[in-house]
Amino acid sequence: MKAELLSRIRDRKATVGVVGLGYVGLPLAMEFAKAGFRVIGYDVSERVCKLLMRGESHIQDVPASEVAALVKEGRFEATTDESALGRCDAISIAVPTPLSKTRDPDMRFVQAATEAIARNAHPGMLAVLESTTYPGTTREVMQPKLEERGLTVGKDVFLAFSPERVDPGNPKYHTKNTPKVVGGITEACTEVAVALYSSCIDTVVPVSTTEAAELVKLLENTFRSVNIGLVNEMAIVCDKLGVNVWEVIDAAATKPFGFMKFTPGPGIGGHCIPLDPHYLAWKMRTLNYKTRFIDLASEINSEMPALVVQKVSVALNDDRKAVNGSRVLVVGVAYKKDIDDIRESPALDVIRLLEERGADVVHHDPFIPRFRDDDHDGPDGAHRERVGVELTAAELGKADAVVIVTDHSQIDYQQIVDDAALVIDTRNATARSSRGRARVVSLAANPRPSGSGRGAEPLARTTVG
Ligand SMILES: NC(=O)c1ccc[n+]([C@@H]2O[C@H](COP(=O)([O-])OP(=O)(O)OC[C@H]3O[C@@H](n4cnc5c(N)ncnc54)[C@H](O)[C@@H]3O)[C@@H](O)[C@H]2O)c1
Repeated sequence: MKAELLSRIRDRKATVGVVGLGYVGLPLAMEFAKAGFRVIGYDVSERVCKLLMRGESHIQDVPASEVAALVKEGRFEATTDESALGRCDAISIAVPTPLSKTRDPDMRFVQAATEAIARNAHPGMLAVLESTTYPGTTREVMQPKLEERGLTVGKDVFLAFSPERVDPGNPKYHTKNTPKVVGGITEACTEVAVALYSSCIDTVVPVSTTEAAELVKLLENTFRSVNIGLVNEMAIVCDKLGVNVWEVIDAAATKPFGFMKFTPGPGIGGHCIPLDPHYLAWKMRTLNYKTRFIDLASEINSEMPALVVQKVSVALNDDRKAVNGSRVLVVGVAYKKDIDDIRESPALDVIRLLEERGADVVHHDPFIPRFRDDDHDGPDGAHRERVGVELTAAELGKADAVVIVTDHSQIDYQQIVDDAALVIDTRNATARSSRGRARVVSLAANPRPSGSGRGAEPLARTTVG
């Protein structure tokens, strides 16, 4: 079985399936197709499959022209018909792994995808889970389901875990040139999975087990979460001390060894960093261990939107205004710069907290002209769609406060500083702008407003949440 699969991969005769055609799955499917495989994308979303088959793309990093060409050449098809998986020799799974309301892993998507594969499994097939998950998932959740069909993993079928490391919007690193870690249930599983990914990814890094591969991803994202938590705390510290946090970070980053630059901000977002560490924390709770670094970083990072709103409130107060009734323009709602993803974005929390205090909030985001607001019910009980405003002198002039939440590159920060009265800059986006009409309030360490009897209250002296 193994030798035959390896030769089908080597000769590009293997058909590769990708389950879940989102931010991770679609770029991966494109790489397999460009490497010469015939690729079948299976997704439960009819909308996504139809759109791809029309030669369009719903993922910013994948050009529609690429999808259209591969569909036309018959090298890529997207389908909602799970029986198509039966035609695949190797399948990568990239379905969502969200958290439940109680912040426990929600494994429904992985389970459903595994069941679909198991129903269509045949001897000589390789399945690789790419979704971020807790250590043990591949062995404990997937292997038994495949073996229920009478197929032995490592002999009849092959099973591995390979964490996805896609960084949406990154102009330098994409699926092909980002090294890929692979760990199989058995050595044979690792060998075939390494062969598959080596066909289209520049560097493949084998590890000894699926658990090691699962943990690699969680270490990477926990590392980010903890370091962002640390630097967010440093912003609070700097605010108390009256020191400019950005200056401190930039100077520290001149150290050529032993320091890695992270920047503070309004909180963390996206499908990975706010969620993934909780997968590990949950797993460790089942083993009676409390992951203290994870919990502390999560606590600090999730308090940041409230701290931003506190900054807005204090800054408006210095202008003799209340949050209640003020018009606030939020600039940037994506969870990070230059992408169109609002999942878990701290901007959503900032908007919600401001509205709870009675502010009239509008937004501008060149990547997200409109979005569905899941926190707020509209007049008929349906979720409200928020339509963004243009960044004009009139809009900026109308706002009592402008809050820069996401520092998209294409935004004209000089215009904001020139035309707004008050700017709360959570990303240091206005650092290079010259002085304009606006009073600019930074996340940490602000000069006292001139002529006012009482200075802006340090961020960290305020109560949170
Ligand atoms: N987005 C990122 O930047 C990123 C980076 C690294 C890892 N990851 C991980 O990759 C996984 C996928 O994330 P994503 O951002 O691509 O998600 P996504 O929501 O963009 O895409 C997931 C797709 O899976 C489909 N789907 C859901 N259930 C399915 C099923 N049972 N069968 C077939 N298709 C199904 C959905 O319709 C959707 O199109 C997650 O575990 C995530 O943590 C994401």
